[in-house]
Amino acid sequence: MDIERARYLVSPAGRAALAAMPLDAGRDDPNRLVTSLRKAHPPAEASALAEQASLRSKAAGRFGHDPAMLLTAPGLEMMTHPLVAERRARRLASLAFPVADLTCGLGGDLRACAELGIGAAGIERDPATAILARANVPAADIILGEAARPPLHPGSLAIILDPSRRDAARRTFDPAAFSPPWDTCIGLLSAARAGALKAPPGLDRERVPAWAEMEAVQLGAGMREVTLWAGDGVAPGLRRAVLLPAGADLTSDAPECPEEPAPIGRYLFDPESCVTRAGLVRHLAHRLGAWMLDSQVAYLSTDTPAFDPLAATFEVLEVVPFSVRRLKELLATRGWHAGEIRRRAFPVEPDELRRLLGRAKGEPVTLLCTTIAGGRTVVVARRLRENPLHRA
Ligand SMILES: C[S@@+](CC[C@H](N)C(=O)[O-])C[C@H]1O[C@@H](n2cnc3c(N)ncnc32)[C@H](O)[C@@H]1O
Repeated sequence: MDIERARYLVSPAGRAALAAMPLDAGRDDPNRLVTSLRKAHPPAEASALAEQASLRSKAAGRFGHDPAMLLTAPGLEMMTHPLVAERRARRLASLAFPVADLTCGLGGDLRACAELGIGAAGIERDPATAILARANVPAADIILGEAARPPLHPGSLAIILDPSRRDAARRTFDPAAFSPPWDTCIGLLSAARAGALKAPPGLDRERVPAWAEMEAVQLGAGMREVTLWAGDGVAPGLRRAVLLPAGADLTSDAPECPEEPAPIGRYLFDPESCVTRAGLVRHLAHRLGAWMLDSQVAYLSTDTPAFDPLAATFEVLEVVPFSVRRLKELLATRGWHAGEIRRRAFPVEPDELRRLLGRAKGEPVTLLCTTIAGGRTVVVARRLRENPLHRA
């Protein structure tokens, strides 16, 4: 966004025009919206207002509510989900240091801190984004500047770092290409009194320094981020899986099940992604009273039902070596059809397997496709929820 547009949006005229727009204006056809806005506004202003309407409706779709913030397309794309930001802010608030967000963007993280009453400052290098951030988080001091040379003393602050992972054209997965680059972020984090560094969910665990704590944060079905925590209040080397919005968690200081695999029992468990990302499969197995089926595969098993927010529980109906023909016959004979197909360490994509199995009627069952001791295996199962006496 150019600076003129940002200045207009935060001006009294821009704010009044935004406030006068219907809340659902973003659902209108964009051309029709601009045409109608042009009746009352010059072209550049009409286009700025239409853009905000469309971005707000996108934000409402992503976050479940209109964040009532001034947005840019890349800023919204990079903004931390409000529930994730709130959880981070609560932990920072417990440290009782002022917070400096060194890459504050439009202020998603910073606003969550300010809402908890933490003294907060932000640094942002993009001038238009900084203008909007000032409007979005009026309680914070937003400085136009460079994260690597913060005009603040990190030794007395809790910092937040959320490096950009995309330029105008594409998303990058190479931490050296983040902005600021990964090594700079790690240097800043290690120098701060405390802090959190947001990283992509796929971050290689090798990149987590021994002095940091690592969290794999999932919201609903989707992994959101890996967070590195450092400084005060941190247990170095600890790994934690977190599932929001419930806030269920598991840490690496919990006991683990034995490494040796054992044959499949009456129940099978599929851990949530945050558990596998945090490397806590055997810890979860211990909590469930379960065992591994294969040391390389995250499916777990027991002979008694167990439930945990960090895993899906299934009752095992059949276990068969993988063969499309035999699987089709089994499903047809039993009056089942493949309602859900999950896989771990299995080469065939669920959509491809569904296509190979063809259309079928009957009771929906789940197919859990995997490799056990080198053999391709399909577990036909029924999902159980909360209590095996009350099947879904
Ligand atoms: C991923 S976004 C931050 C999003 C923010 N956490 C939120 O929830 O809204 C990263 C921001 O850092 C800014 N940035 C990138 N490199 C920077 C640097 N070296 N110094 C300061 N800001 C930088 C980008 O312009 C971008 O707005």
